[in-house]
Amino acid sequence: MNEEKKPDVAYRGKQFTVPKLSTQGAVFIEPHREANTAAVPADSPVIAALNKPFALKEFRTVRKPVSLGILTAAEQVAFRPGSPRTLDLPIKFPGSNFRLPGEFAHLAPLIQRIADYEATINSDCYDEYYCYLTVDQGEVKPGKLQREAPCHVDGFQGARWRPKVRGNHTYTVSDKLPTVYYAQPFALEHLDEAVHDFFYEMNAKVADTNSEHAWRPQPGELTLMDCYTVHRGDEAEVAVFRTFIRISFEVRSFDREGNAHNPLFCYSWPMVPRDIEGLNLVAYRADCDPSLRVRPWQKLDGEAHEDPKERTKPNLRPKQ
Ligand SMILES: [Fe+2]
Repeated sequence: MNEEKKPDVAYRGKQFTVPKLSTQGAVFIEPHREANTAAVPADSPVIAALNKPFALKEFRTVRKPVSLGILTAAEQVAFRPGSPRTLDLPIKFPGSNFRLPGEFAHLAPLIQRIADYEATINSDCYDEYYCYLTVDQGEVKPGKLQREAPCHVDGFQGARWRPKVRGNHTYTVSDKLPTVYYAQPFALEHLDEAVHDFFYEMNAKVADTNSEHAWRPQPGELTLMDCYTVHRGDEAEVAVFRTFIRISFEVRSFDREGNAHNPLFCYSWPMVPRDIEGLNLVAYRADCDPSLRVRPWQKLDGEAHEDPKERTKPNLRPKQ
């Protein structure tokens, strides 16, 4: 019988397959500061804002991710096909080492490199952070994104977070079709976090500049961004098989349904839906292009697409 595999968690047009991970072949990693060879640019806003509580004014400062260089051949083994699709798997808890289930043992050289850099830039507070791993691997069809989304940041702290806690910082790398970053200021303090969808306003600000400040790293280039670095996936021109890897450092437990469980740690988090739409946030600019103020799973009128595979793209280049 040819039955399509059902997702483990599905709601509002989102589907998550949660892998069952194993302790067999697990790898444990300790950071070695002295092994780090990548430069630490003290003048980068990403480095300067490290460990500070989340603050909207930071979005005014133009940001590009910090480059840690192109992965070595040993580190690029991380791109090998066969990784289970995994969302925000905790691989480090506060005070712990890094623990990779057997399915991700081949990521060890990459995680070691990140651990070494993290211990270098964050020697004071390193132990206070969780670390989460996301791996997304698959074919991206022409005209599509691997992960359709508005312009956004990872680790935005909305109304749920009072008081604000330390900001997230995240390492990412992809073998093809690198993420697009928008190196422009985003003045957002006049928005109300209980009323407005900040990502819609990021869309609108990028459209205001006709995406003129778009910047892309190289394929295979490891970069570090923070929770103020606005970005979005890129559209494929031809079909590609892409691997995207994200390693996030956070002081919060990522307790969203669909996130993977690491059997190498003993923990039980009550999981809550990943559901920003449930907050009924609206665009600050109610009259901006409708494509800039809907989620990908919605049509321009806000209703869900009849075909759940259909996605709406924000028009970020209105002056073609
Ligand atoms: Fe992102």
